[in-house]
Amino acid sequence: MRKSGFYLALALSLVTAAPVVAQMDVEDQINTRQSAFTFAAWNMGKIKSQAIDGDVAYNEQQMLAAANAIASVANSGLGALFGPGTAMDKNDDTRLKPEFFDKPEKAREVAIGFAQAATKLQEVAANGGDKAALAAQFSEVGKSCKACHDAFRAE
Ligand code: HEC
Repeated sequence: MRKSGFYLALALSLVTAAPVVAQMDVEDQINTRQSAFTFAAWNMGKIKSQAIDGDVAYNEQQMLAAANAIASVANSGLGALFGPGTAMDKNDDTRLKPEFFDKPEKAREVAIGFAQAATKLQEVAANGGDKAALAAQFSEVGKSCKACHDAFRAE
């Protein structure tokens, strides 16, 4: 119960974009969220190399650091970077579809999915760093990225 309330609060923070700092302009919101996703993807790549592809030696500490970074992005209150006027109908530098603002239920659903999957990844990495378990949860996080991209990111 406490947990689901926590995730709901997270998801709402993603959707409603409650101000957490002095108002950022549209370009700053877009640049910052693109950087956040790029940073998350860099850390996903580390886990892929070590736990899935095996082209880099498996290192438990590096996997925990990567999982912590991904969970930090997911739980950082990203919603503040999805303010009005930041979709591609109003700005040329973004791939955020305007549907994001028309489908708050769906936005909430994918936000919850990302937060839950990333938080669990962090837990798995912290609990002994079992490679197979980490690989399985990595795949769940990947699905949560894709769920949002399929709904709200243009090609
Ligand atoms: C809540 C929705 C959502 C989730 C969850 C999400 N993304 Fe994204 N992602 C987007 C949107 C929207 C954009 C386009 C942002 C823009 O152009 O303003 C994007 C852009 C990106 C980009 C390109 C950044 C750039 O410089 O243009 C990468 C890489 C990326 N996402 C990776 C990921 C990864 C990896 C995950 C999961 C760990 C993830 N995303 C989770 C919505 C999401």
